[in-house]
Amino acid sequence: MNYKNKILATAPMMDWTDRHCRVFHRLLAPHARLYTEMVHANAVVLGNRERLLGFDPVEHPVALQLGGSEPQALAQAARIGAEWGYDEVNLNCGCPSDRVQAGRFGACLMREPALVADCVAAMIAAAAVDGRTVPVTVKCRLGVDDEHDYERFRGFVDTVAAAGCGTFVVHARNAWLQGLSPKENREIPPLRYEWAWRLKRERPDLRVLVNGGVAAPDQAQAQLRHVDGVMLGRAAYHDPYLLHRLEVDLYGGELRGRGELLRALRPYVEAQLARGVALKHITRHVLGLFHGQPGGRAFRQVLSEGAHRPGAGWALVEQALAATAAQRRAAA
Ligand SMILES: Cc1cc2nc3c(=O)[nH]c(=O)nc-3n(C[C@H](O)[C@H](O)[C@H](O)COP(=O)(O)O)c2cc1C
Repeated sequence: MNYKNKILATAPMMDWTDRHCRVFHRLLAPHARLYTEMVHANAVVLGNRERLLGFDPVEHPVALQLGGSEPQALAQAARIGAEWGYDEVNLNCGCPSDRVQAGRFGACLMREPALVADCVAAMIAAAAVDGRTVPVTVKCRLGVDDEHDYERFRGFVDTVAAAGCGTFVVHARNAWLQGLSPKENREIPPLRYEWAWRLKRERPDLRVLVNGGVAAPDQAQAQLRHVDGVMLGRAAYHDPYLLHRLEVDLYGGELRGRGELLRALRPYVEAQLARGVALKHITRHVLGLFHGQPGGRAFRQVLSEGAHRPGAGWALVEQALAATAAQRRAAA
C-alpha cells in the first residue's frame, strides 16, 4: 500500500507537546503534522501571545489547538493563529476534564453540534489571512457518557461538516463526563475504531484521522487502510523513536540512529540555551528516546539528574549518550 498521501500526526497534549517537544518530534518525523497543546481562545486573545503561540519555523506543518465554545472568541483566536502562521486551527471537542466541562467546552461540546457548527463557521470566516485560508478542523470523541449511538456521532460530524469543517480527528472512544479522571478517560472507555472507519466509508469526502491507543507501526498501518491519517499521543511521547520508524515506513528515507537524531537537535538546544532557556525544559521531552533499549535507563538517569543543574549544557547530553553506549556494551 502507498502511504505517501496519508497523514501522520502527533496529538495535542497539555504540558507535553510544547514547542521544544515539537521541534524534537519534527526531527524524528519530517512529514508529521504536529499539534500544539490546547490553548483557550480567551488566553490567545488576552494573554501573552509569544509565550502561548510562539513556534519555530521547522515545526511546519503545525496545528494550533484551541479550546472554547464562544464563536466570537474562537474566531478572534483562529485569526490570530492564522496570522502567526499556523497551518491549521483545531477545535477541541474531546477533553473531559472538570475544569473544561465547567467552561462548557471540550468533550461536552459533542452534545451541542449546532454550537460547534457556529464556532467552526466563525473560525473559518476569520482564519482567511493574506489570501490564505487556514483549515479549521475538529478533534472529537465518539460520544459522551453512555451514549453509544453511531447515528448520533455521524450526525455531530455532518452538522459540523456542513459548517465547513473537512477534517475530523476521532479519538475513537467515548468520554465519560462523570466519575472518571482525564487519565482514566484515555484508558477505560473502550476503543471502537470501526466507527471512524465507517464514517470514512460513508463520508468519503471528509478527511478522517484516527486517534487512541495506536502504539506500533503495524497498528498505524492497519488504521491507514481505513482512514486518511493516524494521530499518536502517549506512545509518541514515551517512545519517540516510534515516530521516526513510522516516518520511514510511511514516507521512505533512511532509518537513522537514535544518537544521530538527537545530535541533530544540538543547534536548536544551543540556540535556546543562549536565549536563557534551561536545558531541562528541552531534555525532559527526549528521555524516552532509548525506550526499551539496553542503556535506556542510563540515558534517562544522566539527563534527569543533571539537566536541572545551573549551567547544564550540551555536554550533559553527550554524557548521557556515552553512558547509554557503555551500558549497551556491558549488556552485549
Ligand atoms: C498529558 C496529556 C495531555 C493531553 N492534552 C490534550 C489536549 O490539550 N487536547 C486534546 O485534544 N487532547 C489532549 N490529550 C489527549 C490526546 O490528544 C489523545 O487524544 C489521547 O492521549 C489518546 O491518544 P493516544 O492513545 O495516542 O495517547 C492529552 C493527553 C495526555 C496524555
